[in-house]
Amino acid sequence: MPSDKIAPFPKTRLRRIRQSSATRALTREHTLSVSDLIWPVFICEGDNIEQPVASMPGVVRRSVDKVDEAAKEAAGLGIPAICLFPYTNPQLKTPDCAEAWNPENLSNRATRAIKSAGLDIAVMTDVALDPYNSNGHDGLVVDGEVVNDLTVDALVKQALSQAEAGADIIGPSDMMDGRIGAIRLALEEHGFPNVLLLSYAAKYASGFYGPFRDAVGASGALKGDKATYQMDPANGQEALRLVARDLSEGADMVMVKPGMPYLDICHRVKEQFGVPTFAYQVSGEYAMLQAAIQNGWLDGDKVIMESLLAFKRAGCDGILTYFALDVARKLAKN
Ligand code: PBG
Repeated sequence: MPSDKIAPFPKTRLRRIRQSSATRALTREHTLSVSDLIWPVFICEGDNIEQPVASMPGVVRRSVDKVDEAAKEAAGLGIPAICLFPYTNPQLKTPDCAEAWNPENLSNRATRAIKSAGLDIAVMTDVALDPYNSNGHDGLVVDGEVVNDLTVDALVKQALSQAEAGADIIGPSDMMDGRIGAIRLALEEHGFPNVLLLSYAAKYASGFYGPFRDAVGASGALKGDKATYQMDPANGQEALRLVARDLSEGADMVMVKPGMPYLDICHRVKEQFGVPTFAYQVSGEYAMLQAAIQNGWLDGDKVIMESLLAFKRAGCDGILTYFALDVARKLAKN
């Protein structure tokens, strides 16, 4: 707003609106609600298991029965979506990643368990090969190169197996070219016209994914980095090209990832395209906040909400966050 539109002091005292909690509430521009949250959960084999993830204090890997239980609580609190990430048994990881489209893989079993419980919560699944790849990459590696087009064929098979298991929202997080179009076409052809695609359109080659790779057991496997397919953190314009491309191929919603270091990108995407835009507050962001909170250096009640509200202010419609359940409990109390 140009400053000549504001009456000069003392006619304008910007502190007037801040004088009480009532006037602050009345003039508040953004709010965080439970319906803004997507909760990422890690799944593992076994029964009755909740296994802490060392680098993500407060986060556990859950066996399918426990995921089911957690989904019930999340649905009860009004969280609209849960996002599944499998910790795959290392013996099932192969260079061809065939476990990714096994109808009985962990992710598909968990999806069926949640869907058959008839809960009012959307199940989101992850399309990328890294949990199934013996070399830890999101794509197939041929002669040392992460190859694009063969990977897209594999991702289509993976996405179809997830749709067959009952996934409501499919989230391609692999950053291959052409995968949104190929998956969209396959979904149409196989009788899944209503499955949503939430494209990880602007996903950066980030250091903030470290704890996630521990959580899904991909850290040890990964050779090299993901810079040939994930974005260079120095780029902004390119994110807009990727979003435009994925929308043109049939994405319903787009995501920026990581979150807090890329709020400028969230804002630009929302401003330019006006489509449902999400941010992923990734594992490293969670770990940073939790580490400081656990040391008593930051007040968790304040910084968690503040960090999530920032996404709303930047223009996001929702946030994938490991804090989702805690935040939903807190919002339910208020
Ligand atoms: C991989 C994938 C990653 C995350 C979600 N899907 C990691 C990566 O790209 O290496 C990261 C999420 C997080 O850090 O919380 N397809």
